[in-house]
Amino acid sequence: MSVEIVDYEPTHESGVVSLWRNAFAYAEARNEPSSVIRSKIANADGLFLVALQEKHVVGTAMGGYDGHRAWLYAVAVDPGLRLRSVGRRLVVELESRLVLLGACKINLQVRSDDPGVVAFYESLGYTVEPRTSMGKAVDR
Ligand SMILES: CC(C)(COP(=O)(O)OP(=O)(O)OC[C@H]1O[C@@H](n2cnc3c(N)ncnc32)[C@H](O)[C@@H]1OP(=O)(O)O)[C@@H](O)C(=O)NCCC(=O)NCCS
Repeated sequence: MSVEIVDYEPTHESGVVSLWRNAFAYAEARNEPSSVIRSKIANADGLFLVALQEKHVVGTAMGGYDGHRAWLYAVAVDPGLRLRSVGRRLVVELESRLVLLGACKINLQVRSDDPGVVAFYESLGYTVEPRTSMGKAVDR
């Protein structure tokens, strides 16, 4: 069955939430899927993609662009459809959108305990860079 890559629409929400609950084990309230989706669509930047098979959500990818660099995140594929190029297609489509916006570098973070995800991104041309990742949660 074919898989198509489309822009996120509100009808995809429950499928995205269920995919992310399975793929990502983030405990922080700020990563609660519905809240992440709400924030992203409020931005309407065309950088939220879903992969659909027979109208079911089987993959996602989000991008961010700050006017200089770009970021990839929330890249996930349904476990039953992994290693069938769905992740690659999502990332390639997002990259082409980021380049059209003017991005000159695309960054991403992966958990250091998942060598399979590193291999996935390496196959797409990304390299592990000698950086220390830092972050700070801020009150809203
Ligand atoms: C990482 C993930 C998105 C990959 O999706 P996928 O659809 O299975 O990947 P693809 O089939 O498009 O694979 C593309 C390439 O990466 C390689 N690859 C993918 N997963 C791999 C793994 N676990 N180990 C080694 N190589 C892997 C494939 O072999 C393929 O290589 P090739 O082009 O040389 O044949 C998927 O495993 C996933 O959802 N993981 C859980 C969520 C996650 O950790 N996301 C990343 C952090 S944002």
